[in-house]
Amino acid sequence: MTQQFRITLLPGDGIGPEIMAIAVDVLQRIGQRFDLQFEFQEALIGGVAIDQAGVPLPDQTLEACRQSDAVLLAAIGGYKWDSLPRQLRPETGLLGLRAGLGLFANLRPATILPQLVDASSLKREVVDGVDIMVVRELTGGVYFGQPKGIFATESGQKRGVNTMAYQASEIDRIGRVGFETAQKRRGKLCSVDKANVLEVSQLWRDRITALAADYPEIELSHLYVDNAAMQLLRWPKQFDTIVTGNLFGDILSDAAAMLTGSIGMLPSASLGEKGPGIFEPVHGSAPDIAGQDKANPLAQVLSAAMMLRYGLDQPAAAEQLEQAVLQVLDQGYRTSDIMSEGMIQVGCQAMGAALLKTLDQEN
Ligand code: IPM
Ligand code: MG
Repeated sequence: MTQQFRITLLPGDGIGPEIMAIAVDVLQRIGQRFDLQFEFQEALIGGVAIDQAGVPLPDQTLEACRQSDAVLLAAIGGYKWDSLPRQLRPETGLLGLRAGLGLFANLRPATILPQLVDASSLKREVVDGVDIMVVRELTGGVYFGQPKGIFATESGQKRGVNTMAYQASEIDRIGRVGFETAQKRRGKLCSVDKANVLEVSQLWRDRITALAADYPEIELSHLYVDNAAMQLLRWPKQFDTIVTGNLFGDILSDAAAMLTGSIGMLPSASLGEKGPGIFEPVHGSAPDIAGQDKANPLAQVLSAAMMLRYGLDQPAAAEQLEQAVLQVLDQGYRTSDIMSEGMIQVGCQAMGAALLKTLDQEN
């Protein structure tokens, strides 16, 4: 029986529309294979929304996302909107969407593909086999804590304020996602905080430690964030699953991503208690190469695979898409960001065509 899914597409800015087009093509092809019917609807977010609707997250977009089974996002932002006031910046639209859908858990895998080991700036023996999942809290911490703003002091100086705050319940729910993610992986969880300095981190560590009683089979460790950054570069293979707050997760997930040498390959999932999740590449909108058919669409395609797996419960279809990505790499196709000697350099569209061809040959 055909299963139907309503998917909201948010192509956004820069290279977003180009890579989204590839993901839609491959999803359609996968759909035929697995008897899944996708009803795609496009909506505005980020800079393109500012230009066309005056705000980075129009109400219709949030509503369309709420009404769908999953949201596939490409990327937002660009030089053009960088100097706008905060409430009008593309990033504000993305943060509003995360908060509006209650997506408190952000899963960011950083996996080295054997075909791309040499793309890393670190030595082969350090990165070969790295397979890390960063579980980042996404709707709390210093990104959202109150008070926030730029205020005038009594002496007339300006003072910028943000507040890093977590309630116990917020720590517990992301902590559980961390433990459960580790259960499905290699059973190791590292919680990252700054408990030697910050009270909010002390509470974080206490709650995570208490939760561990419910997961006796998980090997839990704690690291301060500065040490975690260092360990990620020194010996990344010590990590399996990392759970951390919003800001630390933002920074560490970029570092983990770069271990793979190719941020253009990495997908992510943002999930809530219930309702649709957002699936998006870790990389940004790359305005410098937008519209030139140079973008790497593979992180977008792998985000579509994460959507199939975590958002639509279609693991077999997800698996086939992931396999297709590995196969086009095996065939030697590379976009310029992951190009190496002896490989076949292709643009975004040709990479998409190679994927479709591979999907057609698989059975
Ligand atoms: C990310 C980005 C966002 C963040 C920005 C664009 C708001 O860096 O998804 O990691 O800081 O969360
Ligand atoms: Mg970031």
